[in-house]
Amino acid sequence: MTYLRNVWYAAAWATEVPQSQLLARQICDEPMVLYRDDQGVPHALFDRCPHRFAPLSMGKLCDGGTSIQCGYHGLRFGADGKCHHNPHGDGRIPIAAVVKSYPVVERWSLLWVWIGDPAQADPALIPSFPFLDTEHWYVATAQMEIDANYVLESDNILDLSHIEYLHPTTLGAGQSGEGKTSVTQDGSTVWSRRVIRNEILPAFLYQATGLPDQAPCDRWLDVRWDAPASMYLQADMALAGTPREQGIQSPQAHLFTPVSAGKTCYFYSFSMPKALGPWAEEATQRNVEALREPFLREDKPMVEAQQRALAGRSFWDLKPVLLDVDAPAVRARRVLEQLLAAEQASHLSK
Ligand code: FES
Ligand SMILES: [Fe+2]
Repeated sequence: MTYLRNVWYAAAWATEVPQSQLLARQICDEPMVLYRDDQGVPHALFDRCPHRFAPLSMGKLCDGGTSIQCGYHGLRFGADGKCHHNPHGDGRIPIAAVVKSYPVVERWSLLWVWIGDPAQADPALIPSFPFLDTEHWYVATAQMEIDANYVLESDNILDLSHIEYLHPTTLGAGQSGEGKTSVTQDGSTVWSRRVIRNEILPAFLYQATGLPDQAPCDRWLDVRWDAPASMYLQADMALAGTPREQGIQSPQAHLFTPVSAGKTCYFYSFSMPKALGPWAEEATQRNVEALREPFLREDKPMVEAQQRALAGRSFWDLKPVLLDVDAPAVRARRVLEQLLAAEQASHLSK
């Protein structure tokens, strides 16, 4: 399993890394420690002291939050990863006393980390999630760990035809499967769009949206995918036959960061515009909590079972039967494979 390296990975919700705390996280098999200095600027270092391999996340912040002191024998490392203090002997700093320092950008309520060539770490490459801007939006965030490869999770969000079968009492309903899916591609960005007309929604969704109980509705489920697995889902509902803009709009982020080949950190969110008024703050939180049930009890067990069924073989090796609803997920897999191949080719040519 190889990972795309020259890409931004969602490493944590910004709120997970308050000042004066260390957060240990593993991304693409690399252990890292995330923290903020006293100015609030986030940093990420490889989470293994080069002396006796203690995780730096078991140490503590010092020097005004600019250094981590290893919790085992006290070597201190700056945000550039270099050891600048050795409390032992003559205090000489061994040349090899350095850990990798990762570019980090705080944007859209998230900390994004770049594990590849730092010279290519352009923040403009981070996909846009304006509804995660807390100045204009109430943003409720959540996360969970999934014991499955992150690409199976992209597949899951890019093919929402599953909601009728996997979420029959929460997100899906009797006619969800009759929706039409289309795929478009813009550069390396893939869009999956799905429209479902004239549908009686499950009670869960009438409660969540305030739409009149049992009223037939139209639904739009648009998903934008960017490598490696950063997805924006615009899930809108309106009374059947009325314009989409007059309905309930629900922009969500679904971001999947590989911990390892078989484990994924799943970040998701629900947002409502602050312009709706203070009542929307509580509704935003309630909705993200409501989503946890189907994600935890329905999607997670299914995707983890898929991972077990693959039993270490690749997705294509098992020769999956493809349906028309698979078009967006297959397109995203192809783009990911092309990006990986291009990265490996440029690596070999160096
Ligand atoms: S293991 Fe870090 S200073 Fe010894
Ligand atoms: Fe689902």
